[in-house]
Amino acid sequence: MPEIIVTGAAGFIGSFVATALLDRGQQVLGIDSLNAYYDPALKKARLQRLEGRNGFRFRQVDIADEAALKSGLEDVLPEAHHIIHLAAQAGVRYSIQQPEDYVRANLNGHFNMLQMARQAPKLEHLVYASSSSVYGASKKVPFALDDAADHPVSLYAATKRADELLSISYSRIFWLPQTGLRFFTVYGPWGRPDMAYYKFTKAILEGQPIETYAGGALQRDFTYIDDIVAGVLAALDRPPPVGGEEPHRLFNLGNDSPESVNALVTAIEAACGRKAQRIDQPMPLGDVPKTWADISASRQELGYSPTVKLEEGIRHFVAWYREYAKV
Ligand SMILES: NC(=O)c1ccc[n+]([C@@H]2O[C@H](COP(=O)([O-])OP(=O)(O)OC[C@H]3O[C@@H](n4cnc5c(N)ncnc54)[C@H](O)[C@@H]3O)[C@@H](O)[C@H]2O)c1
Repeated sequence: MPEIIVTGAAGFIGSFVATALLDRGQQVLGIDSLNAYYDPALKKARLQRLEGRNGFRFRQVDIADEAALKSGLEDVLPEAHHIIHLAAQAGVRYSIQQPEDYVRANLNGHFNMLQMARQAPKLEHLVYASSSSVYGASKKVPFALDDAADHPVSLYAATKRADELLSISYSRIFWLPQTGLRFFTVYGPWGRPDMAYYKFTKAILEGQPIETYAGGALQRDFTYIDDIVAGVLAALDRPPPVGGEEPHRLFNLGNDSPESVNALVTAIEAACGRKAQRIDQPMPLGDVPKTWADISASRQELGYSPTVKLEEGIRHFVAWYREYAKV
């Protein structure tokens, strides 16, 4: 059985997607640069769980390095049927401090992956990660696929929207079937240390203050990792139908249930059994007041149906964190 190439396999979402593919008997070639945007020990620990499993191989490759990517994939491309491309420089705020990293990983890296996909003669489907941030600070909610996505408020968002446009052009010119998934604030065990739920949990358990913005009124459509993984696999199994102008589709993968940061803090306090000490700051540059996914197309076309409520997902995260961090 040909391997499925998963980029960003040592990342939060990628490691769970790889696990789910292995669970259903598929073979996975994981690619990741293991960069130090956050503690590489966490990426290695995620990988360790995968490396013991039948059907998993890993290659440390930087997708922005064209020559390295080519030689890393050369032997598998002739037989590759599916690629799940999740590697990227994530994070909205860091894109203001370090824009070059986003141009490299998200623009050059995405372009290189499209070039690789073109060279895979049997490729049936490339699924890639986009983001809710492409909707910018839109006041019209929920965010729907036919809403304009041309006013990014961060460079991160701009690179993700650019990825979608690059993909649309390649799907049309080279008839490369693709699906872009706009993820909405994904959280859960083994999650990313740069995200609020992780930082809040760590600080609360260490007795440190947490920093909230705009009185905690910002709202996010927090989406649990298991729901996201189910959506990624459902998308993978349903390439765009033939017959249209371009074999490319976009979907929102969110929870359709926005919650405030105050509600997030309350859920974390309950799961930790401790109260947070809060310091409030104004909303930072690049952030948006609210996200909310319209998932009607994902429900209809992918059978996507998120089930995990914030309190439950946060309980799972806090239980994992206490064990991982030994606190
Ligand atoms: N987690 C979320 O809430 C969220 C929301 C919207 C979109 N996304 C997107 O989903 C994808 C996965 O996100 P995540 O939360 O798992 O992030 P993550 O940072 O945990 O995973 C991304 C992985 O990509 C790897 N990577 C980065 N640059 C690379 C490069 N040049 N070459 C090879 N590997 C590289 C990193 O080492 C990391 O392991 C990303 O594309 C991200 O932009 C995530």
